[in-house]
Amino acid sequence: MTDLLQEISRRRTFAIISHPDAGKTTLTEKLLWFGGAIQVAGEVRARKASRHATSDWMELEKQRGISVTSSVMQFPYRDAIVNLLDTPGHEDFSEDTYRTLTAVDSAVMVIDSVNGVESRTIQLLKVCRMRDTPILTFINKLDREGKEPIDLLDEIESTLEMECAPMTWPIGMGKRFRGVYHLYNDSIAFFDPQAEKGTSEIIEGLNNPRLDEAIGDQAEELRMQVELVRGASHTFDKEKYLAGKQTPVFFGSGVNNFGVQSVLDALVDYAPGPLARASENRQVAPDENKFSGFVFKIQANMDPKHRDRIAFMRVCSGHFERGMKIKQVSQGKHFAVNNAITFMAQDRNTTEEAWAGDIIGIPNHGSIRLGDTFTEGEDLKFTGIPSFAPDLFRRAQIKNPLKMKQLQKGLQQLAEEGATQLFKPLASNDLILGAVGVLQFDVVAHRLEHEYAVECVFEACTWATARWLRGKDEDIKALLDKAPGNMALDGAGDYVYLAPNRVNLQMAQERHPNVKFLETREIY
Ligand code: G4P
Repeated sequence: MTDLLQEISRRRTFAIISHPDAGKTTLTEKLLWFGGAIQVAGEVRARKASRHATSDWMELEKQRGISVTSSVMQFPYRDAIVNLLDTPGHEDFSEDTYRTLTAVDSAVMVIDSVNGVESRTIQLLKVCRMRDTPILTFINKLDREGKEPIDLLDEIESTLEMECAPMTWPIGMGKRFRGVYHLYNDSIAFFDPQAEKGTSEIIEGLNNPRLDEAIGDQAEELRMQVELVRGASHTFDKEKYLAGKQTPVFFGSGVNNFGVQSVLDALVDYAPGPLARASENRQVAPDENKFSGFVFKIQANMDPKHRDRIAFMRVCSGHFERGMKIKQVSQGKHFAVNNAITFMAQDRNTTEEAWAGDIIGIPNHGSIRLGDTFTEGEDLKFTGIPSFAPDLFRRAQIKNPLKMKQLQKGLQQLAEEGATQLFKPLASNDLILGAVGVLQFDVVAHRLEHEYAVECVFEACTWATARWLRGKDEDIKALLDKAPGNMALDGAGDYVYLAPNRVNLQMAQERHPNVKFLETREIY
């Protein structure tokens, strides 16, 4: 194997998806701990974006600069280099989560054994489905009285329409939780919340007399269950997992460290390395010699003392080296990158080298946009970074009209970062903000005030939904002539139809059958 191939094939780049409170933060923290990337648990928790009241959240943001979560954590584990991408816990920032999911090769889904499959998990899974992202499942909180494991598997299979292949099987739950049986290793790990890694002992074999000695009657119960489970559930099939059709399932208790290492091992053993990416022009294979990557996230104020923004770039192919000259395809500009950043669990280092699968941060002053492709020269455009039609709209009303220029600039930049969407109706001078979650408006108001020194209020407005338009020039023009009051340009200069209600939208669609009204738009 060449060095390039070797480096690439050991990368594992993934995100954790879950409903709030299922245990994503806990699992993140424990994965880092098992990976040796943090010494004491508790560090990630402190960074967790509050899912509580807006006021708490804003307070946190103020103290730490706008983004509380460190978005990327890299650490070595066994022979692998693991890149864990964090996603905001709050539903109002789901656009950010969706974009992050375009930068991973697989995902870990955390399910709370008490609550089963919850709404946000369903939503996020739909996004993973769009790209057939392989999913590994961790059923958490077995130390509590939850649903029966077999019912949980049924629930996953029916709600998420995915086969489940149990990899481990729990021995009891709640007060009677004794550990898990590994269906493929034929080993049993006993649960002990007092033990450092949550496990007091690991034994081999379901018929081992030590099992009866340790857990008494539950041993026979387990043997019967295992027989049943082996007969009634799916056998793990790596190909199906990689195709996103089957999910291997692990049981455990994150807060007690139990079951976490099996997830980490499974990521290394089964999860895919960097996958090929679609571009407008062609498929780009990770082991191509030439470097390429795309920006899936822009984060401002990571360091409140500096105004810099960090563009998070997923390396899609080849090898990046410090000082390398790369091309920002959208601008046709080349520049040498000397100050890229690699994010470890706690530290950031200047990136000396990175390979396909890695995420590097590029500091900039606003010249890099969401969705930007970078290459060594080829005019590639990676596709698939989504922007969603917002459900919430506000009109920005400035307090001091002399600051109009700053407001325009601020909103333009915040839209390019993906903090909000911006619409400029053709028939007025309004600046309309669109969002998927209401907290986005709070963030924008806060940032306009602190970064652009503009105070403004956001007023309710008549718009209820937006659609991006695609069609021949003459068809778009016909729509423009018929409904000039509904037409707007978005932050990127793309035509958008703004509708005050669904009926209006439907009528416009019926009257203009040659125009496509898109609910999602890909950012280039
Ligand atoms: P999230 O990021 O998905 O929102 O979930 P998070 O990890 O913050 O976990 C949500 C709550 O569930 C936390 O309790 C956490 O301690 C608890 N938890 C996580 N894993 C387990 C587990 O295996 N068993 C049990 N019983 N609880 C678990 P909290 O009270 O909200 O926070 P804290 O006060 O414990 O920090």
